Formats: sequence, structure tokens, C-alpha cells
Amino acid sequence: MADDPSDWEMATRLIRGGLARSAHGETAEALFLTQSFVYPTAEAADARFAGDDPGYIYSRYGNPTVKMFEDRLALVEGAQACRATASGMAAVQLALTGLICAGDHVISGKAVFGSCRWILNTWAPRFGVETTAVDGPDLAAWRAAVRPNTRLFFLESPANPLLEMCDIAAIVAIAREIGAKVVVDNVFATPIFQSPLKLGADIVVYSATKHIDGGGRVMGGAVLGDAPLLDEAYRDLIRHTGPSLSPFNAWVLLKGLETLDLRVRRASQTAATLADLLADHAKVRDCRYPGRSDHPQAAVAARQMTGGGSLVAFDLGSREAAFRFINAMTLIDISNNLGDAKSMVTHPSTTTHRAMTEEQRLEIGLTEGWVRLSVGLEAPADLARDLERGLAAA
Ligand SMILES: Cc1ncc(COP(=O)(O)O)c(C=O)c1O
Repeated sequence: MADDPSDWEMATRLIRGGLARSAHGETAEALFLTQSFVYPTAEAADARFAGDDPGYIYSRYGNPTVKMFEDRLALVEGAQACRATASGMAAVQLALTGLICAGDHVISGKAVFGSCRWILNTWAPRFGVETTAVDGPDLAAWRAAVRPNTRLFFLESPANPLLEMCDIAAIVAIAREIGAKVVVDNVFATPIFQSPLKLGADIVVYSATKHIDGGGRVMGGAVLGDAPLLDEAYRDLIRHTGPSLSPFNAWVLLKGLETLDLRVRRASQTAATLADLLADHAKVRDCRYPGRSDHPQAAVAARQMTGGGSLVAFDLGSREAAFRFINAMTLIDISNNLGDAKSMVTHPSTTTHRAMTEEQRLEIGLTEGWVRLSVGLEAPADLARDLERGLAAA
């Protein structure tokens, strides 16, 4: 008898999970680049729309290639179900709006990706939802922010860009006391190094644009959790608002998943080496890497992550020094992206986190000297030489 896929180890899940071959027996996953589906008879269409026949109707609702990606990622994450979206922000937007109503209160970590902060601070209040942003690692702050109408906790860990860690299990315990749901953005950790659902979170979101693609090609996102919750909170919302993932992008992301484990582990190994180099350098005032013992939440990282990840953040003291460093490097690309095979350097306060006010940036310690490095798959020695080139100019 064949194995139950949930008995497979990670490497097998990433390659075989969700694979649904067509009658042609193709080797690679089939790309169903189609908007809609046809029915043999009017009665068959009737049955499909009535839900009596489980086949596909329209790619805004579901598509066989997208379903393969959803099933594979669900298996990788250890989730009952997954819904794929057109981008990571579509996933965050879907995850949050499916769980809140006018009059609800949300508690969020302060250090979240700038667009997530914009949804909570600028957009959600238009629909009567208030958010309190707290210092993520401070458990007492999460507890103190609770109101009678608190329905949702949202956090990112490690957080973008300064890699601050939240204790997911402890924050889930606070949410449980009041019946609030917990949504975790797991982009930086990836499914390889951290499993928020196993720590009690209700929903995990990904920008698949990052490590899951890993080749800088397509946008995508995903929301994962228990099947009844996903059905209740998101099924109709997806059907009627259309944040759906393109089948072509799903196909690229399926191929990305096949090598995720190898890529993320290799990048993480290199990142740990480069973090040590940076931390020891005289021009670096502070260096954050979740795998280092001097990370402010090193104990949390050790408890809930099995690897440090591919991102390093470090402070060069001023915008001028950061810009000199970035401009002097010749190999590492200047980009706001991350999780790519190509290493990339970002100046968060003038790019990814520009949408935050200066006050909000200072609240999370993001001064203009901070630089974020997304470590890719190039040879570690070549990357180290490029960093040395940058540091010499900083
Ligand atoms: C932590 C985090 N969440 C969400 C997103 C949004 O993802 P996307 O760019 O795919 O919409 C990003 C993008 O940088 C991110 O870094």
C-alpha cells in the first residue's frame, strides 16, 4: 500500500505533495492555463454549480494547477488546508478581513511589513476596525492591549526588517484566554524553519514571491490553517473578491517548492557565516541574526526556529554610511526583494518601510543606518568579499 503523504519527510512533501497527474501521465505538474471549464450538458453545469459535482467552475474559484500548489504547501506546512493568492499582500489582506468585522479590535506587533501596517492603521479604521500596535517581544504589552472587543492578533516573526522575534506560543496563549484568533506572517522563517500552526496559531500567511519562488519570477501568496476555518472565513470572500493566484504563477511556485528545503538551508548557512563577519566588523554597530546568541530574543529563536534564516540586519550608524556601503558593492544587488537565489541589499527606511511615519520607524528601532541583507545562493567567499568592499567604503 502507498504511504500516506503526511508520513513523508519534508523533502518528499516538497516534491511529491499535491501532485495530481492528468490522463497524459506528464512528468512535470500540468499547467492548466484556463479561465473557465466546460460541461458536457446543462445538467452537469447545474450539478457543478449546486455543489453536487466537485469539479472546477472558474479559475477565480479554483484551478487544478493552483490546487496542486495549495495541496503541496498545505502538506509542507502541516496544515489541513491552503488557499493561494495573487501576492503576499493579497494573502495578508484576505487573512485579516476574513476574520474581522466593524467594531472589532486587533492587536498587532509594531514591527510588521510596511504594507501590513498600512492595512491595519490606514485602511481598516475606514471600516470601523481599530488596531493597537505593541512591542512584539513584550508579552505584557500584548496582554495590556486586550479590550473586550479584541478578535485578532497579528504578528510577523522574525519581523521585517530588524528580525525581532515574537514568542508565538506565549502570544497564542494570551489570545486563547479571550477567544481571539492569531495570524502569523511566516515569510522570513519559511516553512522549513518555523511552524506557527504547531505553536497554536490559527492562520499562517506567506508571500510566495519570496523564498517559495526563490528565482525572482512571479508574485504569489498563501493562507493556511484548519479546513473549517478557511472555508468559513475565506471561501466566499475569495470567490466574490478575486484575490486568486494565476495558474501560471502557481506552476512556477510548484517548481519553486521542489527545491525550497535545499535553497533555504544553504542560504541560511551562508547567512550565519556572513552575520559573524558583519558582527565582528568595527564599522557595524549592531548586527541581528536569529541564529546568533547575541540576538535580543535568542532564546525564543532557539525554541521556535530550527534555523536562522537567510536574512541579516545590521546598523552602520547613518544613512550616509549605509548608502556608501550599498553603492560600493558590485555583486550583491540593490533591491527591496528577499528570498531570492541572488543576494540583495535593502535600505529599509527609504524603501520597504517608507510608508511608516518616522515616529513609527523609531518605535521599532529602525534608524537610517540599518541595512537588510537577503542572502542568496552565491559562493559564500564571493559574498564575503563584496561585503568587505562595501564595509571599506561605509
Ligand atoms: C514579511 C512580508 N510579508 C508580506 C509581504 C508582501 O508580499 P508580496 O510582495 O508578495 O505582496 C512581504 C513583502 O516584502 C514581506 O516581506
